[in-house]
Amino acid sequence: MTTMQTEDRTETRSEARTYTITAIPADGVGQEVVDAGRTVLDALARESRGAFSFSWQELDWGSEYYAKHGRMMPEDGPDLVKDSEAIYFGAVGWPSVPDHVSLWGLRLRLCQGFDQWANIRPVTFLPGVESPLRRADSSDLDWVVVRENSEGEYAGFGGRNFAGRPGQGEVATQSAVFTEVGCERIIRFAFDLARTRRRKISSVTKSNAQQYGMVLWDDVFQRVARDYPDVETESVLVDAMSAKFILHPEDLDVVVASNLNADILSDLGSALAGSLGLASSANLNPERRFPSMFEPVHGSAPDIAGRGLCNPIGALGSAALMLDHLGLAAEGENLQQAIAETCRRGILTHDVGGTAMTREVTSAVIDHLQ
Ligand SMILES: NC(=O)c1ccc[n+]([C@@H]2O[C@H](COP(=O)([O-])OP(=O)(O)OC[C@H]3O[C@@H](n4cnc5c(N)ncnc54)[C@H](O)[C@@H]3O)[C@@H](O)[C@H]2O)c1
Repeated sequence: MTTMQTEDRTETRSEARTYTITAIPADGVGQEVVDAGRTVLDALARESRGAFSFSWQELDWGSEYYAKHGRMMPEDGPDLVKDSEAIYFGAVGWPSVPDHVSLWGLRLRLCQGFDQWANIRPVTFLPGVESPLRRADSSDLDWVVVRENSEGEYAGFGGRNFAGRPGQGEVATQSAVFTEVGCERIIRFAFDLARTRRRKISSVTKSNAQQYGMVLWDDVFQRVARDYPDVETESVLVDAMSAKFILHPEDLDVVVASNLNADILSDLGSALAGSLGLASSANLNPERRFPSMFEPVHGSAPDIAGRGLCNPIGALGSAALMLDHLGLAAEGENLQQAIAETCRRGILTHDVGGTAMTREVTSAVIDHLQ
């Protein structure tokens, strides 16, 4: 394992606050976008003239680590991270390692081990970025997907058996797990978030076909809704919601859904906003017993990795969410505005129709920090 501690001590005054962040770039473009994010965050810290700084611990976990050690991270990996104030994550997955091994061995191990049960995925329409939606524009569309991040379809319950049966007779089961506690905490979280926005919440299930776990979710949603009479509610099946994302996105504010459904819907949202490379996310442990983790929604993009042309905006937006979580709300807003200004000026990577390289977008965002 390579551990690198760096600290920007430029102009540090005695009252400076140092945030300890673990960076895990992992695979493919994850390395490029985390590098971009660190560059922007360190620039913000320099601009703060000593008010705050970041102490980085960078870990080389991922598919190359797997090739050397036969595992995605050390056995005691979570212990090496748990005292950080946040984790800044890139993306995991590479063709050399089966996807379920890389995902469960690193990202899901951290999310579940640190009980990061709330996954926030804003769908942000940026100026200068063309959406495939007619009439879509940054002035009236923005919503947040709140994803249950600890159980549901990704609980990891099930198994494979009967591999020895003749005639390819193997059987696999994969169970979804819905608990009342798990449903209630994410639904309450989403209602509280709706109260800070346009006070509309859409709950998404497939409870007509999945009559146990998702009906429990619906029941909890109706019960919790009674505590929030000021928030408008709707319950929508996931198939209908995917149509609504395209046909009536103006109706959306906070969309709360299970692990799998929200995973799929948030990719649809980011594609509608222009590209998967734009989408940011926060995996939160709201009680702050463990570090929360901030990462772009996209994967390691092996098709474009290593060429310096990936879009860093999703990772930079995730850095803005991390600043907010650390109590640096003004700095987070500053970064969001710098991202919007960069896009407005047409400094865009190829996935959103531009010609700029990753480093050019990163430099432009730094130039537009206030
Ligand atoms: N959170 C994660 O770590 C995460 C999420 C999704 C997929 N994955 C893993 O990533 C690997 C590749 O998966 P995939 O191809 O299904 O999804 P992907 O998100 O890596 O790529 C899908 C498409 O989006 C493009 N894209 C993604 N990020 C981009 C960026 N920043 N800028 C420009 N274009 C971008 C890619 O070029 C590709 O065409 C797999 O191993 C998968 O398991 C990891």
